Amino acid sequence: MNNSPSLLPDYLKILREKWREVPSSTQDRTFSSDLLALADADLLRLWQGWYDDNCAGAGYSTRGWYHDLYAPLARTGGAWLEIGSGLGYDGIFFAQQGAQVTFLDIVEGNLQVIERLCGILGVKQVNFRVLTSLEDIRPLGTFDCILAVGSLINAPFDLMCAERNALATHLRRDGRWLELCYPRERWEREGSLPFSEWGKKTDGDRTPWVEWYDLEKLQRSLQPHRFETVLDINFHNHDFNWFDLTKRS
Ligand SMILES: C[S@@+](CC[C@H](N)C(=O)[O-])C[C@H]1O[C@@H](n2cnc3c(N)ncnc32)[C@H](O)[C@@H]1O
Repeated sequence: MNNSPSLLPDYLKILREKWREVPSSTQDRTFSSDLLALADADLLRLWQGWYDDNCAGAGYSTRGWYHDLYAPLARTGGAWLEIGSGLGYDGIFFAQQGAQVTFLDIVEGNLQVIERLCGILGVKQVNFRVLTSLEDIRPLGTFDCILAVGSLINAPFDLMCAERNALATHLRRDGRWLELCYPRERWEREGSLPFSEWGKKTDGDRTPWVEWYDLEKLQRSLQPHRFETVLDINFHNHDFNWFDLTKRS
């Protein structure tokens, strides 16, 4: 397969077909178009239930812990970019703490769900942008924090290097790069499948690609930008890994 970065827009079309269905509960996925058809009260009730499942109780070990960890950073009120925001469990939380969050996703319907939820919840200072090519990143401005939760592992490495790179250009010096990936340990445990097959196991039948990352691979993917490591941990029984990096150049 030719993974030239110029092929990113074509690959994003393939990804868009898959990712119009996004993680809802920790065990399930939902088409954002189905959510858009709901009345406000029903949308909020469903979303709130899934949010609690992801963040509270048993879900604390999935997302709740990093919400608590980074809430103080969000309360300082900086500009955050969430890339691949799904149903917004993270970006909405950090916006509620005081961050000015730009939600950037490849699927317009996903963003429309978050925009409606922000309206219902009274969450202000949020922006919404669709990503169709790297050109869409250029007008975004500079961010204090870039957050990618399971979004930049879904395409071949060379393509994601190009996207990470373009995004990291918009992170200020000393800004934070927060990313959730899947670790190599999980890939090995689940049979060391080709990445074109592994995603079907981790994220459902229609998943074109899922690739593991470790710190070295993530740092390489962000080059020529240079980052210092704040946190590099596997969590949730090695299902996920979390990287917290500070941009130095
Ligand atoms: C696994 S879901 C994660 C969603 C959300 N971050 C969460 O934690 O629930 C992947 C999300 O990233 C988006 N996505 C997939 N590939 C992407 C890419 N190359 N660039 C930006 N967003 C992408 C999808 O549309 C989807 O919203």
